[in-house]
Parts: sequence; structure tokens; C-alpha cells
Amino acid sequence: MRPWRLKGRELLPVVQGGMGVGVSAGGLAGAVAALGGVGTVSSVDLRRLHPDLMAQTSHLESGKEPDARERINAANLVALDREIQRARLISQGRGMVAVNIMKALSAYEIYVRQSLESGADAVVVGAGLPLDLPELAKDHPGTALIPILSDARGVQLIVKKWEKKGRLPDAIVIEHPRLAGGHLGAAKVADLQDPRFNFENVIPQSLEFFKSAGLEGKIPLIAAGGISSREDILRLQGLGTAAVQMGTAFAVTQECDADPAFKQVLANATPEDVVEFISVAGLPARGVRTHWLNKYLRVEPKLKAVAHVKDRCNMAFDCLAHCGLRDGKSDMGQFCIDQQLAHAWEGDQQRGLFFRGAGALPFGKDIRSVHDLLSWMVAGNRPAEPVPSDAFKTGALA
Ligand SMILES: Cc1cc2nc3c(=O)[nH]c(=O)nc-3n(C[C@H](O)[C@H](O)[C@H](O)COP(=O)(O)O)c2cc1C
Repeated sequence: MRPWRLKGRELLPVVQGGMGVGVSAGGLAGAVAALGGVGTVSSVDLRRLHPDLMAQTSHLESGKEPDARERINAANLVALDREIQRARLISQGRGMVAVNIMKALSAYEIYVRQSLESGADAVVVGAGLPLDLPELAKDHPGTALIPILSDARGVQLIVKKWEKKGRLPDAIVIEHPRLAGGHLGAAKVADLQDPRFNFENVIPQSLEFFKSAGLEGKIPLIAAGGISSREDILRLQGLGTAAVQMGTAFAVTQECDADPAFKQVLANATPEDVVEFISVAGLPARGVRTHWLNKYLRVEPKLKAVAHVKDRCNMAFDCLAHCGLRDGKSDMGQFCIDQQLAHAWEGDQQRGLFFRGAGALPFGKDIRSVHDLLSWMVAGNRPAEPVPSDAFKTGALA
């Protein structure tokens, strides 16, 4: 297994993917970075982790005050800064601390600016094409910029557009929509099985494009979705990727920033419990068929039939730039995603929406530490065995 380099730093070939709302905050991201990997803070609605910020803003969600949105956004920026600093403190300069920002968020731009100012080592953008990221980050040449894409066409498009702006992606995450958790990079649920998304197609095609464009070896690829073993990493490195990104496996670690009951729902889900549906962002998404999701999927056709434009966002802060519920779009989901994801983060098994990938978990139903997970994935140490202190030195990887 090979370590990889990002902005001149040698790293373990494992990236912890950003997971909102509040699932990957400073605690999880810091723990991963501390062991030499890339830990990613999810930027969205982080005030929920800070009782003082919730005390200042939860009453604003009724939307009666005209500046509710600005005040909630301001609290979220304070929380984002705190979580980046927390991750940096835990990591003690090891590994890298990234921030994941969804392009589909209405606060996308202010979250990018805050992440850069707060000293994130990398900004990772998914759920949309971040064509404007080079301009937004022009004063921060030392910060790695990493788009998340799902097919070779997307890779070509973003590289060509960014090249004209004088900046290349420092790495690209290739997320497999048939396997990953959360929002998926395909237009429709029916497209998720399309072979163009298979790693065996996207990775060689992207590498071929880099070669033809004179960019060979310049843009490391990170494969995401369904990765659960050391053999997966070796196979993907054999295809030419530099590293892998995992989400669900990190969401069920002790250090994950969500409630223990959240982790139990993900860990206990069987393959039959995992389902795809259309989110309010208009993208397919994957999660666990819990009480709320079952009920929602039953009434979804009726809700879509009566979809209409609302006076205002449920939560007053317009988390999504385009929201099927607020904008009355009958071809998009009809629920408040911030509220449902927040219920999941709190461990509310009745009301939460629990995003999850489709794959098996490295430790089955066990909740283990980040140390156990990385030790198992990277160094091949069985989790019950003591981990040698040098297991995480990248030079020790065979
Ligand atoms: C609970 C959960 C929340 C997620 N939230 C986000 C998110 O906010 N932004 C994002 O780009 N990806 C998100 N993802 C995707 C992960 O970052 C990761 O790429 C994906 O889960 C990889 O697949 P795996 O879960 O099979 O390892 C989420 C995944 C999960 C399981």
C-alpha cells in the first residue's frame, strides 16, 4: 500500500468523507488527521453542536424576525470556525484537516470563505460543480481544492474549466453513486446502476484524459463508496487511485460527532434496510429505511401532488439554494432535510433521516475507534490485537 502526497504532505491513503449534519465535525476530523489521514469537517449547520449558539438562534427558526437567516448563518460561521480549530488542535499538525461544502447550499460561498480564513488545509466540494472555487480561493494558494465527481465526463469538464482559470484541482474524489451514502452524483435513481460510474471505467478514463492533457501524475484520484477492507484499497491503488474516501465506516466510530444511537442505526442496518430516494435537493440519496423514511416514502406521491411554493423556508435559513419543499417542486423531495438530518444526529430513531452507504462495514455491527479502523484498513492489524506504535508512520506501509 502506498502513502500519497497532497500539497507536499505525505498522508495515509485514507480520507474520512464529510458528513452532515454534524456527523463529521472537529472531533472525528481531528481524530483522523491525528493519525496521518485526511479528516473532513462537514460545514453545514454546525451551530447545533454548540449550546450557546443554539440558545442564540433556535427561536429564530420560526422565521418571524426579518434578519433570522443572517443571524443563523452568522452563528453557523462561528461554529464552523470553532470546529476547524478543534480539529486542528486534536490533530496537532499531523495529517490534514479538510472542510466539505455542498455546492447546493445557499451558504456555499460564505462557508468556503470561512473555511479558508479559519485555516482549513483543504476545501472539498460536492453536490454540484464548483466552477467558481478557483476564484473564491485565489488568495489561498496553499489550500488544497478538491471537487467530488462521479464520472469521467465531470472530471474532464472541471479540469478544463479550472485550467483556464490557472488552477488545477489538487485531487479529485470519485464517488460511486451505486455505493456511497448521502447525496449521490447521478440525475435519477434509475441512473445509479449505470456502468459509466464503475471505478473500473471512471478511473482509467480519467487517467487517460490526464495523460492526453499533459497532466499525468498531477491530480491524485480518491475513490469513494463501498470501501471496507485493506484489499479494496490495494485493488483501487492497482487501478491508479492515490487514496480512498470512506464515510459510513467513520460514521460508526467512537469519535464520530453524532449521538451513539445514530451510530447504532447505521451499524445495525442490513442491505435490505438501505434505500434510495429523491432528496429535497433534487438529487438521489441513500439512507436507512427507518420509521420516518418508511412513512415518508409511503406518502411521497401525495406530498408531491400537492407541492406548492411556500412563503418561507421551514427553518428560516434556506439551507439549500434550491429546495423542493420550499420551492414547491413536485419532481424533488418534500421534507425538511435540515430538520430530519438533525433528528438523526441527535439519535432520534423515530424522526431522523439516517444517510448510509450500501456497503458492508469493516467491523460489522461493532462501534470501534478511529485508531482501530485505520489500523485495520491500512496496516492490516486485526482490531483485537495491540497496534504497534509505528503502524501509522506512512513509511511503514508495505
Ligand atoms: C451520514 C452521511 C452523511 C453524509 N453527508 C455528506 C455531506 O454532507 N457532503 C458530502 O459531500 N458527502 C456526504 N456523505 C458522503 C461521504 O462523505 C462519503 O463520500 C460516502 O459516504 C462514501 O461512501 P461509504 O459510506 O460507502 O464509505 C455522507 C455520507 C454519510 C454516510
